[in-house]
Amino acid sequence: MSEGPRPDAARDGGGRSDGGGRSGGGTPGPQSAGDVLLRRMTVGDLPAVTELERKTFPADAWSEGMFRGELADQPRTRHYVVALAGGGIVGYAGLAAAGDQADVQTIAVAAGRRRAGIGGALLSELLAEAVRRGARSVFLEVRADNPDAQAVYDRFGFERIGLRRGYYSDGTDAIMMKKDLNA
Ligand SMILES: CC(C)(COP(=O)(O)OP(=O)(O)OC[C@H]1O[C@@H](n2cnc3c(N)ncnc32)[C@H](O)[C@@H]1OP(=O)(O)O)[C@@H](O)C(=O)NCCC(=O)NCCS
Repeated sequence: MSEGPRPDAARDGGGRSDGGGRSGGGTPGPQSAGDVLLRRMTVGDLPAVTELERKTFPADAWSEGMFRGELADQPRTRHYVVALAGGGIVGYAGLAAAGDQADVQTIAVAAGRRRAGIGGALLSELLAEAVRRGARSVFLEVRADNPDAQAVYDRFGFERIGLRRGYYSDGTDAIMMKKDLNA
């Protein structure tokens, strides 16, 4: 994506290349995570997704067009999911996969729904999809000033592999993280 990096996950990271993505093993049907249902994101979700995006990342929200660009490559190299509760979208996340590597592109949960396992469920689904597609490693970048997201990634076994100083437009460093997937 041509836009500059924005907070947190590796939304402009090394896995953004279009080449070499596998078709993957297909997305399973809707999955239950407590009272939350996960399913693949569609273009019809974008009004709600972009509304949540703007609330979550007010400084540099992805536009609807940017999400459309991601979905245009789904399922070839992308896997985006939404979390549904009470009839509405309460979270979303996206993965880019190419060859034996994958990148967490984004992950967000509505502010009032955090610490209830939704982010973990979304991340678990991305990791499962990475496994289904034959990825051996998953990468991401997270803002150094975002301890909440870092805590989630730590919990899921991501390890710090580097620092990109001043990576974000406001000068904040990016922490690069990697998780090796067991076959
Ligand atoms: C990062 C984010 C997606 C996590 O979503 P979530 O639904 O709150 O995550 P979960 O409830 O599944 O948390 C999973 C685990 O991560 C850890 N964790 C999550 N938030 C944490 C916090 N604020 N402090 C400490 N640990 C935290 C905990 O170990 C937690 O498990 P526990 O609640 O059983 O202790 C959410 O905070 C968010 O949307 N933040 C704003 C957007 C953002 O920063 N995205 C990051 C990448 S772009």
